[in-house]
Amino acid sequence: MSPIPKTAPFAEEEIDLLNRVVGTASPIQRAWLAGFLAGLDAQQGTVALPQPAAPARPAEPITIVYASESGNCEKLAGDFAKAARKNGLKPAVIDMADLELSVLAKAERLVFVAATWGEGEPPGRAVRAYSELMGEGAPRLDGVEFGVLALGDSAYAEFCAVGRKIDERLAALGGKRVVDRVDCDLDFAQPASRWIDDALKVFTPPDAERGRVIEVDFGKPQAAPSTDIVEAEVSEHINLNSSRSDKETVHLALSFEGAAPAYEPGDSLDLYAENDPATVDDLLKAAGLAGDGALREELLKSRDVTTLSLKTLENYAEKTGHQYVKALIADGQAKEWIVGRQLIDLIATFPVALDAEKLRALTRPLAPRAYSIASSRREVGEEAHLLVSAVRYASHGRARKGVASNHVAERLKRGDRVRVKLRPNRHFALPAPDKDIIMVGPGTGVAPFRAFVQERRATGAKGRSWLFFGDRQFTHDFLYQLDWQEALRDGALTRMDVAFSRDTPEKVYVQHRLWEKRRELIDWLDNGAHFYVCGEAKAMAKDVRATLVRAFADVKALPPKAAEQAVATLERDKRYLTDTY
Ligand SMILES: Cc1cc2nc3c(=O)[nH]c(=O)nc-3n(C[C@H](O)[C@H](O)[C@H](O)COP(=O)(O)OP(=O)(O)OC[C@H]3O[C@@H](n4cnc5c(N)ncnc54)[C@H](O)[C@@H]3O)c2cc1C
Ligand SMILES: Cc1cc2nc3c(=O)[nH]c(=O)nc-3n(C[C@H](O)[C@H](O)[C@H](O)COP(=O)(O)O)c2cc1C
Repeated sequence: MSPIPKTAPFAEEEIDLLNRVVGTASPIQRAWLAGFLAGLDAQQGTVALPQPAAPARPAEPITIVYASESGNCEKLAGDFAKAARKNGLKPAVIDMADLELSVLAKAERLVFVAATWGEGEPPGRAVRAYSELMGEGAPRLDGVEFGVLALGDSAYAEFCAVGRKIDERLAALGGKRVVDRVDCDLDFAQPASRWIDDALKVFTPPDAERGRVIEVDFGKPQAAPSTDIVEAEVSEHINLNSSRSDKETVHLALSFEGAAPAYEPGDSLDLYAENDPATVDDLLKAAGLAGDGALREELLKSRDVTTLSLKTLENYAEKTGHQYVKALIADGQAKEWIVGRQLIDLIATFPVALDAEKLRALTRPLAPRAYSIASSRREVGEEAHLLVSAVRYASHGRARKGVASNHVAERLKRGDRVRVKLRPNRHFALPAPDKDIIMVGPGTGVAPFRAFVQERRATGAKGRSWLFFGDRQFTHDFLYQLDWQEALRDGALTRMDVAFSRDTPEKVYVQHRLWEKRRELIDWLDNGAHFYVCGEAKAMAKDVRATLVRAFADVKALPPKAAEQAVATLERDKRYLTDTY
């Protein structure tokens, strides 16, 4: 109920705020408030109705679109909206997944906060609107004032490509860029916050002062879970692969002093890892700084000592004046040279004496790594379980180890402490308990589905659950095998199909199982099932989607376009949900 009418002598934003409090107040609370205000006025001798200082004027609108996969851009879009509201603007925040392009043409002020995924691709949910924006049917945006904030990771060749392309496209469609784009790396908090301040200076009309909202903290309608960094203790550390597997996938149980972060199935934890001491020592040695204990400590704990980006190469050329590195850049070969290489390769291949500050300046802050939570609080209490696969490979003659996954696999043990932060993902959540779910999670992609199954068991959900899992070998790589068997027995899992790629001469993956079961699959979907995909983004997630399109075409005898449309409709209806990396 909204008891305060729009005609009240308040700005629209203030009316919204008042309605949030008064609208939900009990009769006793209202009576108290009425008496309190009357008493206050009587005390101050202002019982006669005061005239508002100036007539309320409607707040100017601003449209904020975000393209986000793991939530950073979504959070920043929310921050922008909050600051805009304070400035007297009326923000509308739109997930690019739900964007209708006609909205853009009608916007007077437009902000995009966009992340880049894959190899220079838009986040999964944003693909449809992004391709429409880039396509011929995109509307003209003459007169629309816009600004773009891009998020990315400079370790990728296509750094912030999506933000850059959106920025270029909005201008090409006639939009007026009123604030320059900023490309943010993984440590985006400060540059993004500066960009928001700068953009708001430009977007806020000079006379918006009268509409400025005095921030009244009435509390959030629904308290958001805390995303502060917290310490956890490792209470279980178990390699789920057999000793004969060539993989190592650690089940890590974390327990918290007091309450665990208020996570929901589908959320992840950001884990703050430390570097491998051997890697740091090799780097210090190559740089001629082996004796610098303070630098070693800093590099171990808080600097990214492995990533080699174009920016690092340019920085190295500038700081050292190394002629071969300069030549590499000048010849346009730098982009190719850095593929599969790390900082140590640069320093070892083109050695120069570096001082501590120069070496430090070649590194960026060490970013946390996300891991899907593999448990439900309703089943495990104040714990959170993660499933971490150790990344190990060789390139350019060196053995390489992923920073965080090997910190977990090789150095963390029971009783150790580790810092984590909740990364909520409301776009990968369970549906209503009576809905069926289909879960496709090969490898570590199965982690959130363990949380889903636990949650459904704990809540007695009536919907059916179907899991597709795959890995290399049944005998050595069947992650959480006992859990699934138990869930199949007690009904938390209705059915399970597995694909072990290396058990047969011909490789079999989850998408092959999906294809084999296509009739029942489409039947479940026709019955309202929600379809989830988690895990490897590059090949698996794309193949799974393509398989589902083919399944629709085959089972329902649809032409390819209509089959594609059927999957696109599931995506739009939020019944095809992905969490891929
Ligand atoms: C939302 C989300 C959820 C995730 N959930 C999980 C999960 O549940 N379990 C899990 O294990 N991981 C998960 N990940 C991935 C995880 O965050 C890390 O990316 C992964 O553990 C690697 O981190 P690292 O620090 O060990 O490796 P890094 O030090 O970051 O090294 C990884 C990098 O090494 C390079 N590389 C890797 N393999 C090769 C190769 N064969 N050849 C050449 N270069 C290579 C690539 O550049 C790659 O980016 C998730 C990621 C996201 C975004
Ligand atoms: C699997 C994966 C692929 C990525 N690909 C790119 C890329 O090609 N270019 C880039 O600049 N950043 C890339 N990033 C970094 C993300 O853009 C960055 O983490 C960003 O902050 C994510 O924002 P979001 O949480 O709003 O999705 C990638 C990250 C992951 C995990």
